[in-house]
Amino acid sequence: MTKKTKKPWPTKNVMNQIYEMHLWGGNQFDFYSGTGSHNPKIIDPYLKVVITFLETHKKPLVVCDLGCGDFNIGKHLTKHTRKYIAVDIVENLIHRNKNLHQEDNLAFYCLDITKDVLPPGDCIILRQVLQHLSNNDIEKVVKKITAYKYIILTEHIPLGNFVPNKDIISGQGIRLKQNSGVNLLEPPFNLKIKDQQQLGEYILENNKGRIVTTIYKAF
Ligand SMILES: C[S@@+](CC[C@H](N)C(=O)[O-])C[C@H]1O[C@@H](n2cnc3c(N)ncnc32)[C@H](O)[C@@H]1O
Repeated sequence: MTKKTKKPWPTKNVMNQIYEMHLWGGNQFDFYSGTGSHNPKIIDPYLKVVITFLETHKKPLVVCDLGCGDFNIGKHLTKHTRKYIAVDIVENLIHRNKNLHQEDNLAFYCLDITKDVLPPGDCIILRQVLQHLSNNDIEKVVKKITAYKYIILTEHIPLGNFVPNKDIISGQGIRLKQNSGVNLLEPPFNLKIKDQQQLGEYILENNKGRIVTTIYKAF
């Protein structure tokens, strides 16, 4: 008898279900990407440091927002960029974002960032996306992001020391319960960078970890 191995559900279906069933909260919203995308205590300092970074460039940057979610963050950044390309795997969410947010320099695409070719640009934003993906999925993204000059990465990680990159199945949860979190510079990803700077950190109450934003400059 052959042993049956359980195949995880495709990430697209998982993310669709998260939004349909409001698994990240926000029942009163049509689409809700979680408190990390809405709590002013978390998003205001984030926006401040990212806007400051974007404004340091005389020629505004082309930004690709990978896993843009409900766009409660991205909507504040578009005017500080030359072009803002926002992508997400959830088709209905992209459709809704296209209707709600219309600007000359803004484009939305429904893409799976692990499988599809990513749009060209100067800078990518990956905010609380990789934390939900398996190591296999993250590896596929990491191979593509070195093509960009800047990577602004935000990850929810444990407080204090932790074992980086314990594997999970792509979905609603993150590695926190296993006292782990994503660190792209560590195995199995080993992202090679020229420079890095921590832009900000928000410490959650009740030992729920911290949300850290780092900018990596690629070679
Ligand atoms: C927690 S939300 C964060 C949304 C947004 N970055 C923010 O900070 O407000 C994670 C988002 O990543 C998207 N996502 C997950 N896997 C993806 C994939 N393979 N390709 C594109 N988007 C993906 C989800 O659909 C979801 O909208």
